[in-house]
Amino acid sequence: MWWEVPNHLKIKHGELYIAGKSAAKLGREAGTPVYVYNGKRVVENYRRFYSTLKKYTERELRVCYAMKANSNPDILKLLKKEGAWVDVVSPEEAERALSVGFDSEKVLFTGTSVSNSDLKRISDMGIMVNIDSVSELKRLGRIGKSGMRVSIRMDPGINGSGHSWKVTTAGRSSHGVPIKFSIPREEVLDVARMCESDSFRLAGLHIHVGSNWRTNEEISEFINAVDLVLDTARQVSRALGHELEFIDLGGGPGVRYMESQKEFPLDEYARQICKRIDGSHLSLNAIAFEPGRYIVADSGIMLMEVVDVKKRYGDLIVGVNSGFNHMARAAMYDSYHEIINCAKAGKKADTHVVIAGNLCETGDVFTKEPRLMPKPEEGDILAIHNAGAYGYTMASRYNLRDLPKEIVL
Ligand code: LLP
Repeated sequence: MWWEVPNHLKIKHGELYIAGKSAAKLGREAGTPVYVYNGKRVVENYRRFYSTLKKYTERELRVCYAMKANSNPDILKLLKKEGAWVDVVSPEEAERALSVGFDSEKVLFTGTSVSNSDLKRISDMGIMVNIDSVSELKRLGRIGKSGMRVSIRMDPGINGSGHSWKVTTAGRSSHGVPIKFSIPREEVLDVARMCESDSFRLAGLHIHVGSNWRTNEEISEFINAVDLVLDTARQVSRALGHELEFIDLGGGPGVRYMESQKEFPLDEYARQICKRIDGSHLSLNAIAFEPGRYIVADSGIMLMEVVDVKKRYGDLIVGVNSGFNHMARAAMYDSYHEIINCAKAGKKADTHVVIAGNLCETGDVFTKEPRLMPKPEEGDILAIHNAGAYGYTMASRYNLRDLPKEIVL
C-alpha cells in the first residue's frame, strides 16, 4: 500500500505490522484503544529534517520540536538524545520538557493569550519567551528577570497556509475569522525597541504561517514570508545596533495523509530557505525551526476495536470502542486518515463502511464519506494511520470515557 514504510509499517502475511510486530496482537495484548508509536521512525524523521537542512547551511540549526504534536515522555527523551530543542506552548509543556531532561536553554515558549501566572512560571524556569503581544511584553517587563533574552513572534502579513482555516496563522484573518496570533510586521520595530528599553535582550524574530502545508505554491508563499522576516531582522538590528542571534521559521511542513498527496518536498524547502538566508547578509548565528507533525505523525497508529456492526437504511455502520475524544482530527477538521483493518490488511477492499465512535454525537465518525474496506466484523482491530501527531495530545475525557493508552516501541 502507498503508506507502507520499510522497517516501520507494512503488510506481512496479510496483516498490519508496526516495527516488526503484529498490530492486531499489540492491540489485543495492551487493550484498545491504544496509540502505538515506533520510536525509530521518530528518530528517522528528525534526522532527515536536520540533515537535509544541514546540507545547505553552516549555521547552527535548532530543530525545536513542537511538543504539542506529541508530548509522550519517551518520544521527548528520544528527541533530546538526538540534540533537538523543544517548542512549548504552556507552563505544563515546559515542565514536562524539563522533567525529561531538556536544558531550559533549549526550550522556547511560544504562547498566546498568555497570563501573568504563565509568564511567572515560564520565566522562573529560565525559558526564553517568544512575545505574542505588546500586553504580554509589558507584563513580562514587570514579572520577568532583567537581561532575559526574548524573541518576537511577527506576522509576515501574507496569507498563511494550512490544511484547514483553523490552523492557518498568518495574515489578518482566516476564513473571515480574525487571527489572534503575533505582532503585525509594521509594529515589530517599535516592539523591538520596547523590548530593549525594558532591559530585555532581543535575540530573535519568529514566524509560523500555519500547519500541514506541502504544495509548491504553499512553499513559495512561505518563502515570501521568509524574505519579509529577513528584511525586518535587518531593520531591527540596524535600529537596535546589534545583530539578532537567530530567526525562527516555525513549523508547518506537512505529511501525506492520502494516496493522492505528495511527500513534503523537504529538499526544496531547505534549499530555498538557506539560499534566502545566505543572500540576506545577516550574520545570524542560528536558524530555528519548529516542526511537530513532520517528526511524529507517521510514527504512530491508533488501535481500536470493532464492537458493533449494523445495517441502517442500507449503510453499514461499524461501531468502535473509541471516538473523537481519542482522535479528534476527523471531527474537528474533517481530516482524512487511512483506516486499516489490521488482521485483514491484505484482503480485498469490497465493502463501503462508516466507522463510527461510541460518543453520543452524530459527528462522531472517523469517515466523513463511506470508506471502501475489507468487511469489518465485531472483534476486529482497526488502525488509524498517521495518528502520531495531534492524536493523544488532543484527547479528552468527553462522556467520561477514559483516555487511551500509549505504547512506544
Ligand atoms: N510552532 C507554532 C508556533 C505552532 O503554532 C505550531 C502548531 C507548530 C510550531 C507546529 O506545527 P506543525 O509542524 O506540527 O504543523 N491540531 C492541528 C494542528 C495544530 C497546529 C498548531 N500549531 C491538527 O491536528 O492538524
